[in-house]
Amino acid sequence: MGSDAARAWANDPRVLHDGLEGVLVAETALSEVDGERGRLVIAGYEVEQLAETHGFEQLLALLWRGHPALELAEDEPRLALARGRVRAFERIARLGDALSLVDGMDALRAAIGQLPDSVSPLELVASLPVFACAWQRVQEGVAPIAPDPSLRQAEDVLHMLGHARDLARTRALDTYLVTVSDHGLNASTFAARVVASTGSDAVSALVAALGALKGPLHGGAPGPVLDMLDAIGTASSAAAYLRRALADKQRIMGMGHRIYRVRDPRAFTLERAVERLALELGVRGQARDDAVRARLTLARAVEREAEALLAAKQPERSLRANVEFYTAVLLEAVGVPRRLFSPMFAVGRSVGWLAHVAEQRARGRLIRPASRYIGPLPAQ
Ligand code: COA
Repeated sequence: MGSDAARAWANDPRVLHDGLEGVLVAETALSEVDGERGRLVIAGYEVEQLAETHGFEQLLALLWRGHPALELAEDEPRLALARGRVRAFERIARLGDALSLVDGMDALRAAIGQLPDSVSPLELVASLPVFACAWQRVQEGVAPIAPDPSLRQAEDVLHMLGHARDLARTRALDTYLVTVSDHGLNASTFAARVVASTGSDAVSALVAALGALKGPLHGGAPGPVLDMLDAIGTASSAAAYLRRALADKQRIMGMGHRIYRVRDPRAFTLERAVERLALELGVRGQARDDAVRARLTLARAVEREAEALLAAKQPERSLRANVEFYTAVLLEAVGVPRRLFSPMFAVGRSVGWLAHVAEQRARGRLIRPASRYIGPLPAQ
């Protein structure tokens, strides 16, 4: 390219879409995020309704319907997932050091990365919780627990973590997995679609998605939300803690969103699920009910305070609670260890990732945006 042409190219008047905000790059029949109205529609259902009416297996069938590449006709998703978990557990011995890695997302990425390209999408969805729970057990210095194929995915997660059977907690975890199953073209889904658009395999797309989800601005926030709630301790300390954090230019984890200008609808769904869980545990008279209720009360107080402080600091930008805020409260309440929060997000989101991979493949067009060169030009 000659220097005149290079300059003309560098000064291209096209608008730079930094962070791709608001740029449409794909059509999808999977989900729609309406940031102004705070509405999330997944496969034709409002997320609040979906979380009431669909368990994880039904959600998978709903989202994957119409994609022959997703091989649903073969079987009931419940049985196929159960079989996939058993197969995944058999692979654990061959995972080498993956489960010894200190970070759960690194471990999941390494473990999934070792699966053959030929593994089915259902087996991928089944493998994530098996590897995640096995990693947790290895980190605790105890043997992984084999999946129980008679259980549904959410129930088996709690079983593989060593918890006794508990319908209320299973229902809450199921609600979580359904609630986070898909969310438009979020960063990890976009990463998966970019990989799929090159003609690469689903395992590679999943590895890319896991890498994107790990980041604290995406799926890495709920652990830090809980750290924050711990550090605040009581509602009366919230304002001082949050003021200090903002003065130190820290971001308040679990607050703000690229698209939502109102409260994230998933925050409502998850908050309600925790409320219901606290009630159900209360009826049973379990001591842990107090802990769940106390955590919920603290979280609500911190959210109120954070919202008010962020509104005062940035009145032009509505920064409200996002999905991660009540994810932290819910996952803690059902007994998922803190460092397993992001891997658990991946368990739910994997259904959406793989549906997007199928959609992108069906479209068959390479995703390849442009950048504006701002480096030096070659000498004349
Ligand atoms: N705490 C403090 N300030 C925040 C904030 C938060 N949680 N979220 C956004 N802001 C500030 C930004 O610093 C920015 O200020 P600046 O213009 O002075 O730099 C301003 O608000 C605008 O940010 P915005 O354009 O809305 O952010 P974004 O779209 O680039 O990022 C998030 C969206 C989610 C990455 C961001 O809100 C964030 O970091 N939240 C905390 C992490 C989190 O909860 N992630 C999970 C997302 S589901």
